[in-house]
Amino acid sequence: MRVFLKLQVFFALFTSSLSVLNPVVLVPGDGGCQLEAKINKTNVVHYICEKSTTDYFNIWLNLELLVPLVIDCWIDNIKLIYDNQTRTTRNNDGVDIRVPGWGETETVEWLDPSHASTGSYFTDVAATLVKLGHVKNQTIKGAPYDFRKAPNENKDYFVRLKSLIEQTYEENNKTSVILLAHSMGGPMSLVFLNLQSQSWKDKYIRSLITLSAVWGGSLKAVKVYAIGDNLGSYVLRESVLRAEQISSPSLAWLMPSKLFWKPNEVLVQTDKKNYTINDLQEFFMGIGFPEGWEMRKDTEPYQLNFKPPGVEVHCLYGTGVQTVERLFYKPGTFLDGYPTLIYGDGDGTVNRRSLEGCLHWRTLQKQKVFVKELPKIDHLQILHDKSTQNYITSLIKKYARLRQPMRKIS
Ligand SMILES: *[C@@H]1O[C@H](CO)[C@@H](O)[C@H](O)[C@H]1NC(C)=O
Ligand SMILES: *[C@@H]1O[C@H](CO)[C@@H](O)[C@H](O)[C@H]1NC(C)=O
Ligand SMILES: *[C@@H]1O[C@H](CO)[C@@H](O)[C@H](O)[C@H]1NC(C)=O
Ligand SMILES: *[C@@H]1O[C@H](CO)[C@@H](O)[C@H](O)[C@H]1NC(C)=O
Ligand SMILES: *[C@@H]1O[C@H](CO)[C@@H](O)[C@H](O)[C@H]1NC(C)=O
Repeated sequence: MRVFLKLQVFFALFTSSLSVLNPVVLVPGDGGCQLEAKINKTNVVHYICEKSTTDYFNIWLNLELLVPLVIDCWIDNIKLIYDNQTRTTRNNDGVDIRVPGWGETETVEWLDPSHASTGSYFTDVAATLVKLGHVKNQTIKGAPYDFRKAPNENKDYFVRLKSLIEQTYEENNKTSVILLAHSMGGPMSLVFLNLQSQSWKDKYIRSLITLSAVWGGSLKAVKVYAIGDNLGSYVLRESVLRAEQISSPSLAWLMPSKLFWKPNEVLVQTDKKNYTINDLQEFFMGIGFPEGWEMRKDTEPYQLNFKPPGVEVHCLYGTGVQTVERLFYKPGTFLDGYPTLIYGDGDGTVNRRSLEGCLHWRTLQKQKVFVKELPKIDHLQILHDKSTQNYITSLIKKYARLRQPMRKIS
């Protein structure tokens, strides 16, 4: 009998704790959600490229499209075209691209609808939340966006994100929402929060959790402009992918920030000239990509607005992983050569100083800023690492306890 009663009490506590979970909205980083394309082109770059498709298909990140030759079709379909008069980008002629899965978790959990393990993104984080009693699409929502674009071209996203948060709050018995962001999702969330009033934030936001957020840009962006990036794959050629990568204004937004790099620090070294944070215009001219400089001018204001978010922050990031810090061109070579990469501390993608950016808010806002450094955890690994899952688990349990101060869960 006593055992039975104890069990009843246990279940009562358990079920009541379910109703007090703060819902979670997931904000992905650069490349962290699916994109779908529909094609109706008059010209293609190669005879093997399809001129038209009857419906939308997954274009990011579909590994079948990233093989030699087919990759040329892929780049021509996914790259953006910049207009320096309107200062906006558009899809290539005959291409329509959309972001599927608004409010759902599927397209931020898996980049590849076939669930290939290489495309696993917020999967482990979602699984951790489900274990705690969360329900996908109800108490966990995804907020994907066109990550090729920077905040200046994602103004509509911030409006929709606000509605999604308000709607999620209402659906969950007026319970404030946790924003959980990775990488570029961090500064996206910061832009969003800085657009809201303090009273709105106090009502709707429980806290902001960031994983490997890029607070002050990264030298990696300079490297991508110079030589491209193979996305960590040995099969893909960085020089091929570069054509697609540099067409994204979000890359210009992720260039090193003047708030984090001093004017005497050399980012790119050649025997003719050293390039610092103040020489980026010349750098873009030197690599033959003047549009990059235009995009930098469009996006830099968003980087320089580093006002604290005005909500409780949990800032997690990896360190102690070799991260490119400077490009060194051997004497006799110039920006069209191939540089030696000089490494420093960071998470393999983002420099340490940028990851630590959230520390600056500690004295600038009254809401707490918690910081957790995860040694040897790289930029993507943080999404899957046990320490991240443990941190999220204890935080969510703590919030549930705080909402029910009278009942102790033993
Ligand atoms: C909603 O919150 C109220 C007040 O805190 C509580 O009495 C009620 O049981 C909650 N309902 C659900 C479905 O969680
Ligand atoms: C494809 O584009 C052509 C014009 O370039 C247009 O006439 C045609 O209706 C389009 N087809 C579809 C299916 O949208
Ligand atoms: C703007 O674009 C046009 C056409 O591509 C080009 O000729 C011009 O030099 C560009 N202007 C700037 C400031 O980059
Ligand atoms: C979430 O919504 C999507 C789209 O409606 C659906 O495919 C998926 O199965 C849903 N997931 C859950 C757990 O209900
Ligand atoms: C570039 O910087 C390096 C190291 O700081 C210095 O040794 C070199 O003289 C500089 N070169 C030029 C051209 O200023």
